[in-house]
Amino acid sequence: MQFETWTKALAELPIDCVAVGVHDDGELSAEARVLDLRCREKLSRLVKRGDFSAKTGETWLVTDLEGLRAERVLLVGLGAKGELTRKSWRRAVTASISAATRTRCASLGLALPRPATKALSDERLGRAVAELAGHTLYRVNDLKTGKKPRTPALTRVAVAVPAKAAQAVKKGFAQGSALAAGSALMRNLANLPGNVCTPTYLGKTAEGLARTHKSLKVKVLGLPEIKREKMGCFLAVTQGSEEPPRFIVIEHRHPKAKNAPVVLVGKGITFDTGGISLKDPPTMDEMKFDMSGAACVIGTMNAVGELNLPLNVIGIVASCENMPDGRAIKPGDIVTSAQGLTVEILNTDAEGRLILCDALNYARRFKPEVVIDMATLTGAIVVALGTHHTGVFANNDALAKELVDCGLAADDRAWHMPLTEEYGEQLKSNFADMANVAGRDGGSITAAAFLGKFTKDLNWAHMDIAGTAYQGGAAKGSTGRPSALLLEYLLRRAATR
Ligand code: BES
Ligand code: MN
Ligand code: ZN
Repeated sequence: MQFETWTKALAELPIDCVAVGVHDDGELSAEARVLDLRCREKLSRLVKRGDFSAKTGETWLVTDLEGLRAERVLLVGLGAKGELTRKSWRRAVTASISAATRTRCASLGLALPRPATKALSDERLGRAVAELAGHTLYRVNDLKTGKKPRTPALTRVAVAVPAKAAQAVKKGFAQGSALAAGSALMRNLANLPGNVCTPTYLGKTAEGLARTHKSLKVKVLGLPEIKREKMGCFLAVTQGSEEPPRFIVIEHRHPKAKNAPVVLVGKGITFDTGGISLKDPPTMDEMKFDMSGAACVIGTMNAVGELNLPLNVIGIVASCENMPDGRAIKPGDIVTSAQGLTVEILNTDAEGRLILCDALNYARRFKPEVVIDMATLTGAIVVALGTHHTGVFANNDALAKELVDCGLAADDRAWHMPLTEEYGEQLKSNFADMANVAGRDGGSITAAAFLGKFTKDLNWAHMDIAGTAYQGGAAKGSTGRPSALLLEYLLRRAATR
């Protein structure tokens, strides 16, 4: 998709279709009024007739208007006047792009009113348009053999902006395009079934990134190397699977970056049966999404490479399956983590924290400024927060607050969860340094507290994305979250040094 700005008269915009806003009381927005005057008030007459309700996100395609360069005008509902929020603006942009994809239009002009700069800066506006275009045009990578639906003709989006905003908007386009590509990569990986998207497949995908982006170096460890690293907890989870594990390290180094690296860590369980503590059948298929954290790290590293951010960023993925088997771990087994702490595995279904504790320990060798892990770690976070907010935990409140702020700014929200000592105390074991579970109460917090025992000397945050990374039910599929939050965080760091 190509994005451009248009800073001249709207009626002169050479485009297949131009989208303008209408309020639900029938009042045309300023841009719509400009076009209306050029085409002998055909638009206002049409709206007055009452066919178009102009509720937020509704659209109406008008063709054959004289006096305009554009062949078509798309009326887009904005809802009540004076209530244009960033949220309703995003809905209007999405609706415009979505309506355009249902036509033969190859190019779309966006001339919608925008929320105040305070709510949406010029740069963010550009970023959001490219992000929303990517999201709206994304088609699930299914394995259906029937005829594929027609691919949309749309290849060009032009946004009408004042000349003084053009440069910042263009900068935003680049960010949004990188975000869209990263998020689509995440979604493609997560949507693939467990028999296709194996740890080996994730490793190969990561190696592919190093071929496309010069700044990225990729190292993939197999079983012998993982054994050499003494990652006893990771090895325990993988020991019940035929499918070999992979430990993936993606490094982005920028010559101008002086900062210690930001390390991103992703949980990459390509299928979670629960192991001997087997899960219930009904929605077990959704456990193919249990590598969403890993997919987000890979997608984000792709975006970082594409933008060549002036930062040092390292992505780490621990990937294996969690299977029941004659060689699988059993409840009560005690294993030794790479850090030397012993863990009593009381529930084999709490496997995410086991692979992550060894990955977090590995992160330490990079002397990182900050470590952020992402994991579909607990069903409990879905009970606590539902599917709207990612759960953020940190051993540093300022870092948690920063991530929550980034989520707000990027429209990819997160909520700061508590992480005080008491939760860690619930993980006491009679036989080892700690147990891997602590009962039902506060399940997402005790899971985070388990990770916290391995990150005491790090500046660390954990994002539990079990509720946000994918949708179940009829709309089953990966959402691409929290790619937008994470890129916002990295862009902010890149801007302040
Ligand atoms: N991958 C699951 C968490 C999960 C559950 C993600 C539901 C998305 C939806 C994780 O490995 C797991 O099984 N966690 C257990 C922990 C429990 C045994 C303490 C859980 O949440 O039930
Ligand atoms: Mn599990
Ligand atoms: Zn899991």
